[in-house]
Amino acid sequence: MILVVKSGGEQALPEWRACFAEVAPRLELRWWDDPALDPAAIDYALVWDPEPGRLARLPRLRAIFGSGAGVDAIVADPHLPRHLPLVRCVPPEATQRMGEFVCWAVLSLNRDARRMAIGQAKRDWDAFDPPFAAAAKTVGIMGLGAMGLRAAEMLRGLGIPVIGWSRTRKTMPGMECFAGPAEQAAFLARSDVLVCLLPATPETAGLIAAPLLSQLPPGAGLVQVGRGAHQVLPDIIAALDSGRLSGAMLDVFATEPLPPESPAWAHPRITVTPHVASTPSRLERAHYVAGCIARFERGETLPNLYVPERGY
Ligand code: NDP
Ligand code: OXD
Repeated sequence: MILVVKSGGEQALPEWRACFAEVAPRLELRWWDDPALDPAAIDYALVWDPEPGRLARLPRLRAIFGSGAGVDAIVADPHLPRHLPLVRCVPPEATQRMGEFVCWAVLSLNRDARRMAIGQAKRDWDAFDPPFAAAAKTVGIMGLGAMGLRAAEMLRGLGIPVIGWSRTRKTMPGMECFAGPAEQAAFLARSDVLVCLLPATPETAGLIAAPLLSQLPPGAGLVQVGRGAHQVLPDIIAALDSGRLSGAMLDVFATEPLPPESPAWAHPRITVTPHVASTPSRLERAHYVAGCIARFERGETLPNLYVPERGY
């Protein structure tokens, strides 16, 4: 069985090889652009952003594995063979890492870590007291899927109140859940810190813009760990400058890497992180993909499937 890989650049191939050799020694791993590889020999593909049309030219392909949880860069391909299963990469380590990042980001906003970082850079002993405890602020999570639910669980473990919003209604003991466009305003009005863990779809494009931000409590915080396509950066900056938002932790951007001229880099109320909220190691991902292939070969159902009708 041949698995072709396009994730992390060709320089990542030796590490992918070592990882798969450990977890699935019978799987032959080949690089996406290997000129000696017969496209008709490929069974599986592990990809992040394949060039449009390439997957459709693999006649024996049986399943596609995203190397991330969000597969928007794969489904953007108009020629994607949509009859094949497309599995999002959601090993348990990925949701754990996301939960850790979201807890860190929420606490950073509530303790104003940005102000401390700026003070340190200026050698300024700026000893301020946060006017509230993190547990006094409600975190609203947009997107209650694999990532959002784990983040909610971990925040609640810190004693932080959490509410959530999703497309279809969720029922979570001890957590108020809102659903759909009709309940969005009520959710936003209660979100002292808004966390975005939505997928990139036509419905969620440009959502984090002035109309949404104006519905948050004054001085709210923003943690954006979804996709850059969700946000209108000038609107976020305007909301920070007016005090509507008190701070923003931005991990994803419309253009990545974030261009040096972006105003986000130096903004005193923005913390920029380089799309690192949750990147499981290659070994963790290889373990997950190998497990999925083994299940698939046994005729069992695959986890975390992309659903074309939903768009995520
Ligand atoms: P899931 O598919 O498991 O969950 C998506 C959630 O979003 C679901 O609760 C879904 O609702 C909800 N949703 C989708 N569309 C809408 C909508 N129009 N209105 C309201 N809610 C909606 O995805 P994951 O939790 O695994 O991942 C979420 C996203 O996180 C990824 O797509 C990716 O963009 C981002 N991500 C970012 C990473 C980073 O490092 N920054 C790492 C990993 C993921 P419902 O429950 O009703 O289906
Ligand atoms: C993502 C990921 O989807 O890195 O952003 O998993």
